[in-house]
Amino acid sequence: MSRALQPGELVLLTDRKGRRYLVTLAAGRRFHTHAGFVEHDELIGATEGTQVRTARNAELTVWRPTLCDYVLKMPRGAQVVYPKDGAAIVMLADVHPGARVLESGVGSGGLSLSLLRAGASVLGYETREDFAATALENVAHFMGAEAQDRYQVEIKDCYLGIDAEDLDRVVLDLPEPWRVLPHAAASLRPGGILAAYTPSIIQAVKLREACEAGPWAGASTVETLQRGWHIEGDAVRPEHRMVGHTGFVTTARRLTGGQTRLRPR
Ligand SMILES: C[S@@+](CC[C@H](N)C(=O)[O-])C[C@H]1O[C@@H](n2cnc3c(N)ncnc32)[C@H](O)[C@@H]1O
Repeated sequence: MSRALQPGELVLLTDRKGRRYLVTLAAGRRFHTHAGFVEHDELIGATEGTQVRTARNAELTVWRPTLCDYVLKMPRGAQVVYPKDGAAIVMLADVHPGARVLESGVGSGGLSLSLLRAGASVLGYETREDFAATALENVAHFMGAEAQDRYQVEIKDCYLGIDAEDLDRVVLDLPEPWRVLPHAAASLRPGGILAAYTPSIIQAVKLREACEAGPWAGASTVETLQRGWHIEGDAVRPEHRMVGHTGFVTTARRLTGGQTRLRPR
């Protein structure tokens, strides 16, 4: 069902050149671009996909932002996990509704949003108070009351320990994930999954080596490449520019008890 846009709602305005603007609607306000302004009142009450013209006759289309739109445009302190990697983490770590997830560090809350959208309850550890505040604001702004009871952020150093038990997933995006491994092993239930995002392959290798020495099995490291295609009439080719390297996702599963992985004879 199409719902009319309401004051207080977050919307995305797109123009013909693919520029994108995030705006919170408020009665009586104007949104200014280099191509003129548009009255919020013209957008309030409209449905998504409505096209309006600015005072200088530029066309803008209004949408409710997708998670991907929001993560790429939201305020950030720390660098966010790019949506293609957030999507891979949700799938590779099998994040599901009701899963109990420890996430660290939460940074700007980009990855938190993907985990919450998948229905998980997320306990975040972050060392920086300003980043934690940004993450909480970003999550509240995009998800509203829906995620309020499922998202908690504590100012804690994850290298020092995890004060939670029987977790289903531990999801890491911090510089030295191997230092969290013993704490993750103590806090994850058997069968639970560890997922770590690392920009550098050296970090991934160190993490994999640390997994060898602990109660982990099925360790795997992947890099996700995303290539867009230009399709316009007969001009069909890969886009000239693509999101090149972002990072690696390493996953491993917690064995039961204090076991280490069985090695081939
Ligand atoms: C790259 S950012 C995370 C970005 C986040 N995944 C997102 O998508 O918005 C890494 C974060 O880890 C935090 N951090 C670094 N070491 C930490 C530690 N030992 N415990 C908790 N957080 C830590 C940093 O302050 C930083 O905010």
